[in-house]
Amino acid sequence: MTTLALYSNKGGVGKTTAAVNLAYLAAQSGYTTLLCDLDPQAAATFYFRVKPKLKADARGLVGVRKELERSIKASDYTGLDILPADFSHRNLDITFDRSKRSRQRLGSALKRLRREYDLIVLDCPPTINILAENIFNASDHLLVPVIPTTLSVRTFEQLLSFLAENKHDLKQVSAFFSMVDRRKNLHKQVMSEMYEQFSNVMQNPIPTLSQIELMGVYREPVSAFSPRSAAARAYKALWSELKEKKMFS
Ligand SMILES: Nc1ncnc2c1ncn2[C@@H]1O[C@H](COP(=O)(O)OP(=O)(O)O)[C@@H](O)[C@H]1O
Ligand SMILES: [Mg+2]
Repeated sequence: MTTLALYSNKGGVGKTTAAVNLAYLAAQSGYTTLLCDLDPQAAATFYFRVKPKLKADARGLVGVRKELERSIKASDYTGLDILPADFSHRNLDITFDRSKRSRQRLGSALKRLRREYDLIVLDCPPTINILAENIFNASDHLLVPVIPTTLSVRTFEQLLSFLAENKHDLKQVSAFFSMVDRRKNLHKQVMSEMYEQFSNVMQNPIPTLSQIELMGVYREPVSAFSPRSAAARAYKALWSELKEKKMFS
């Protein structure tokens, strides 16, 4: 089982959109996949038309196995399950903080699912607290959407230093360009600078495309409602690149 986190401590950069589409493409390619929605805003849960249990709470994620299994829902797609978020997730950091081995709780909870899933995709909230520590410890790979502007590059650099300083045992941290507008000179410039500076930037960017925004209307991955669109092709190319890099066992 491989755990891939879509992570950034910035909001609105394309984490959820990528998590939803990559999880869908993974399931389509035959990986039994769980998309785990860790964001109390529950956007990924919304896109898959999944309703969280009314009284669901975060106990499953802190290690109560039965609670975890009971919270998992099937999606409309073969091979893809969802662990929905609900508003109680806003307290996940406090829940982790109060428990023993507080930085490993998420990883221990997810490990119990290793026989059921080939791939777990984590859709993360923009956080850098104890929940983030749990995410780093639970993940094999972090995939970070970067909008090619100067500030986003700094955020990515800060993340890399934070991970190095705190000796997180991640196999790989990669960035991919998100919401790219090639008509903007700044985007082109920042992209070429990042390719020079870092070796861990994916070659396949996701452009800004109105089809992607329609996901909120159709409540489906763009690859499901418009498989031949430029948007679907962009996520497909990113997914293929992740596979080529042998990120998934
Ligand atoms: N490539 C894109 N082109 C156009 N709109 C996008 C693109 N990626 C994301 N969006 C839109 O931007 C908003 C934020 O994206 P989202 O994936 O929810 O970000 P995050 O999870 O990082 O907060 C959403 O409304 C989404 O539809
Ligand atoms: Mg999100």
